[in-house]
Amino acid sequence: MATNPVKITDTTFRDGHQSLLATRLRLEDMEPVASQMDKIGFHSMEVWGGATFDATTRFLAEDPWERLRRFRELIPNTPLSMLLRGQSLVGYRNYADDVVGEFVKRSAENGIDIFRVFDALNDEWNLTCAAESVKSSGKHLQMAICYSVTESGRMGGPIYNLEYFVKKAKQFESMGADSLCIKDMAGLLAPYDAFDLISELKRQVSVPLQLHTHYTSGMASMTALKAIEAGVDIVDAALAPLALRTSQPAVEPLVVSLTGGNRDTGIDLNRLLEVGDYFESMLPKYNHHMASPRFAVIDARVLSHQIPGGMASNLNSQLREADAIDKLSEVLEEIPETRKDLGYPPLVTPISQMVGSQAVSNVLFGRYKMISDQVKEYVFGMYGRAPSKVNPEVISAALSGYDKGSHPISERPADHIKPEIETAKAAVSDITDDIDDVLIYALYPTTGMKFLRIKHGLDPVPEEMKADLADKPNNLSTLTGLSRPEKSASVRAFNVFIDDSYFKVEVDPTDGSSFTTAGVSSNERNNTSPEKSELSPGNGTLSSPMPGILLHYIVEVGQRVEVGDPIAVLEAMKMENTLPSPIGGTVESLSVEPGAIVVKGEVLAIISPQ
Ligand code: CO
Repeated sequence: MATNPVKITDTTFRDGHQSLLATRLRLEDMEPVASQMDKIGFHSMEVWGGATFDATTRFLAEDPWERLRRFRELIPNTPLSMLLRGQSLVGYRNYADDVVGEFVKRSAENGIDIFRVFDALNDEWNLTCAAESVKSSGKHLQMAICYSVTESGRMGGPIYNLEYFVKKAKQFESMGADSLCIKDMAGLLAPYDAFDLISELKRQVSVPLQLHTHYTSGMASMTALKAIEAGVDIVDAALAPLALRTSQPAVEPLVVSLTGGNRDTGIDLNRLLEVGDYFESMLPKYNHHMASPRFAVIDARVLSHQIPGGMASNLNSQLREADAIDKLSEVLEEIPETRKDLGYPPLVTPISQMVGSQAVSNVLFGRYKMISDQVKEYVFGMYGRAPSKVNPEVISAALSGYDKGSHPISERPADHIKPEIETAKAAVSDITDDIDDVLIYALYPTTGMKFLRIKHGLDPVPEEMKADLADKPNNLSTLTGLSRPEKSASVRAFNVFIDDSYFKVEVDPTDGSSFTTAGVSSNERNNTSPEKSELSPGNGTLSSPMPGILLHYIVEVGQRVEVGDPIAVLEAMKMENTLPSPIGGTVESLSVEPGAIVVKGEVLAIISPQ
């Protein structure tokens, strides 16, 4: 009998499919094996939170609360855990304290036992409200420390060294954490660093320690084993069909590796294999959600530049859209510089996206000539405190003329957010007064409202949200009686933005003609050549510096503006960018319909110097 068995948290129902299948696994495909999973003897099952809340409402027309309640029914014996992004809950911005309190309370009441709470910046300001809410609900508070590296790829250096992690661990323990988790979202934790880190934490803190890591770089199984040797209490793993690649290490080989030793998990391999067989035969219909067509199951490049896989592929498509793929190596060199300027934030969503897009802008238009609204918010302090000092020059560039103020705030960001629950209640009062529904709206006003209208029968379930069609795209051609043609060399890819959703659509002319991007945008819109599209002042033409969607104008025709005054907001690279007036004068024309897709160089406004 093992004296100190390793406990396993199974992530198959949350991070497993979030990592590998864009969070698209439907409840109906998990229900058949849920009670079998319950009998395996996992320490806990992570089944909710993270992106599952967003994906169920946005893509699957599925009520996330109902999913949780169903799991609770089917899994009565194993503690259920969720991932909570601190003050951002399961969304992408900080919410007001009343939303945080209510969300945690309802999650607990609907079935969550263990709350894993983290903040992308490891800033306790963003954790206090969620932590207190978990404590007052009487549930288990696990506080997670995001693992990151400074530059070399190994633990150490000026920021992410052993002292940093020990300090955070002690701080989180003093905030009432019932356990701590090292959350290595990018798979950067190297095996011997894990050994040193866990060994030291075991000496310095008394609550149980858990390791959450991703296979992305290929080190995760070795890292887990070294962490186990160092005494880690709990390890996250997924069933083999949803393990490896960018997901967690597989549970089966871990169980066998530890068999017979002092840290034997006691889990029966055959039970794992049975459930694994179910997934192996069920999952092929989700194949088209598999993120990577690569041969390698690991991304060895992460080991050299520490850039998470998802971020790297985003960069690739952003540069391709901006017709600047030749700048990729420059951008890869710029990323560590931008990250340093911003105070070394861990490269985790949504900050990885922010840093990546800013690095692209820095290379394309000059350093900090164009700064996204999200980076301005970050510099202003609304995401919390950066791990290290933000470059003062970047602060003044970002906050000069910033509408919220020219000096960063020095208190908890949520102190600047007014209560939101009552407004949300009022906004949905025609449809529902259910608090769980209200929370869906409070988290995502646009997609949440769409979901609530579907849920309450005011709108039909859109075709693309239905299981049959969404999960079997090849049936579309079968249904229409057409065989699927081969793609020709003329195929062009377009990004289609609908509210806050985005699709990539490939268009191939059927008459064999080829067309160019310039040909797609009509000449009536005075499409200028890309050379004129830079952010250089001079003439009164404001053109789009890159492809995107024109969200809205800030000015009206006939209005007087000074040089640098905000004219329009462009969404590009998933960031919002406020575009300034190139000259002082009068707004003569605003030529694009808000919401329209614009190409690089497209004229957005003309300012006449008079
Ligand atoms: Co994860």
